[in-house]
This record gives sequence, C-alpha cells and structure tokens, in this order.
Amino acid sequence: MSLPFTHLTSTKQLTRSDTDAILAVAKEMEGVLKKGGSDLLKGKILASLFYEPSTRTRLSFESAMQRLGGEVVTADGIQFSSLYKGESIEDTIVVAGQYCDIIAMRHPEVGSADRAAAVSPVPFINAGDGPGQHPTQALLDLFTIQKECKKIDGLNVAMVGDLRYGRTVHSLSFLLGLYDNIELTFVSPKELTMPEKVTSFCKEKNITFSEASDLEAALDSDVLYMTRIQQERFADKSEYERLRNVYTLKAAHLKSKKTVVMHPLPRLSEISTDVDTLPNAAYFRQVRNGVPVRMALLAMLLQKA
Ligand code: NCD
Repeated sequence: MSLPFTHLTSTKQLTRSDTDAILAVAKEMEGVLKKGGSDLLKGKILASLFYEPSTRTRLSFESAMQRLGGEVVTADGIQFSSLYKGESIEDTIVVAGQYCDIIAMRHPEVGSADRAAAVSPVPFINAGDGPGQHPTQALLDLFTIQKECKKIDGLNVAMVGDLRYGRTVHSLSFLLGLYDNIELTFVSPKELTMPEKVTSFCKEKNITFSEASDLEAALDSDVLYMTRIQQERFADKSEYERLRNVYTLKAAHLKSKKTVVMHPLPRLSEISTDVDTLPNAAYFRQVRNGVPVRMALLAMLLQKA
C-alpha cells in the first residue's frame, strides 16, 4: 500500500484512505514485532535529527527502523550540530540526505518541516516542528483510539491542557476530522485555547466542537486526551508558573470504566499516578503503539509496504 506523497510534514495532507492504509499496515507490523522483527528495510538507513528534546519519538523511530532490519545515524542538539555554526535547515537536510535513505527531524521552529521537505533528496518525516505539527504522534494516537474503542467514527474526544502550544492536539484534531460524527471538546485555560487554524478547520468540516475551561466538561467523553503545559514555549515564565498545575486528572474524576485516558507523555502533574492502575489508563499502551505505527510509515515511505 503506497502513499500518494513522498514526505510527511502535516496531518492535513492525509486523506481517510491514507489513514486507513497506515493503520492497516501498523496492524501488520504488530504481527512482525511479535515474530521478533524482519529484514524488510535491510540496507536502508534512517537519519534521526533531533534538535529539540525527545525520548519517546526518537527511541521509537530508531527502534522501528531496527526492528525492520534497517540502520540509524543520528544528530542531536542544535549546539552540537552545524545549525549552531549558522548552517540553514535546507543545507543540513541536503547534506543529511547524502548519508541516508529517509530522514526524521524534530526542530523548534514552526514551518521547519515544510522547509526541510521542500529540499530533501530522500523521504522526510516531521517528528515535531515547534508548536506546529506532530503527525506521527497523531497517527499513533489514532491507532490507539481504534484499538481501545474498537472504532473511531462517532466518538466524543476531549482534549485538555495546553491546546495553544501542544502540537499533538493540533495534528490529532485534523486527523479526527476525517472520520464521521466526531465530537470534540477543547478544555484549556483562556490563555491556551485551541488556535484558530484548528477551530476554523472544524467549522469548515462541520465537526461539532465546544470549548470550556473546566475539567468537568471533559469527563463524559469516550477519549480523554490530557496534555502537558508546554513550558518551553512560554516567553513569560511567570505565566507558565501560574498555569502549570491548572488541571490534574485523578482517579476519583473517572466516572465510567469506558473513558479511555490518553496522554502523549511526558506527564508532569496532569494525571495523578492513582489513575495509572485503572483500566482506563491507556497512556503506556499508547507509547507502545508508536513502534508499529512508525514501522508502517518508514516501510510505506520507502515503498516497501
Ligand atoms: C509530545 C511532543 O513532543 O509534542 N511528546 C511526544 O512526542 N510524545 C508532547 C509533549 O512534549 O508534551
């Protein structure tokens, strides 16, 4: 199942048939993982370029490549790279493309992924561009929702926390917009509401959505997607201090066993650890799903699946 594009920078470029194909290949990749991996990408090299902190995304990309028999070359930290010497993103990507078959990059600037994709000599994947997009996280979120809820159409999904700077909720909203009868509930402090690019998309697509500032508004949803207040995006640190503990989901809040609690992680105080042992807590299963989804994307963009 090939994808009708070479680079993945945003979930806005995906159609329902693309997501159906990616989720189907990710399911097959779970089978490959159970068998201990394969040689599908033997001889292929992933360049993993992370110019912003990352644990899960980076490790799961690298693990996905290696589970498929491929290899990884890495660069991390702007201070250790030629970007620090003043090299442009474009030159960095053209150079990296000489050493590998596919690139995954995380960078602090919105739009850096589109700039990189415009010149990349090999398939390029956005692993997070500042507060912009994080398409691979959204795809693993979608895969998790499908596994946990046994469907995607008709669900009520609440997103809670830093909706302004949190890139995962932007990307996930665009993806959920591809499904039928989705209802979205956006819960945030008034300083951190969902940006216009997402709310205007919902209006265009006739997606029912509501906005609230009280956690209570999110508690009846099928999926409760908590997010971290994005400290690194605040120009005013005192504003971050004021907002950092605004929402804490506790076990006592969860009225229904059916509410699936997700979080892209890392978690700070948004979910109390007393939720971890409840069947609702899907966030560690969600982390695990990052590997088969990224295996699927690597294989599909390299025309091997
Ligand atoms: C998220 C990110 O980097 O946007 N983390 C991740 O990739 N799993 C969420 C976050 O950092 O809050």
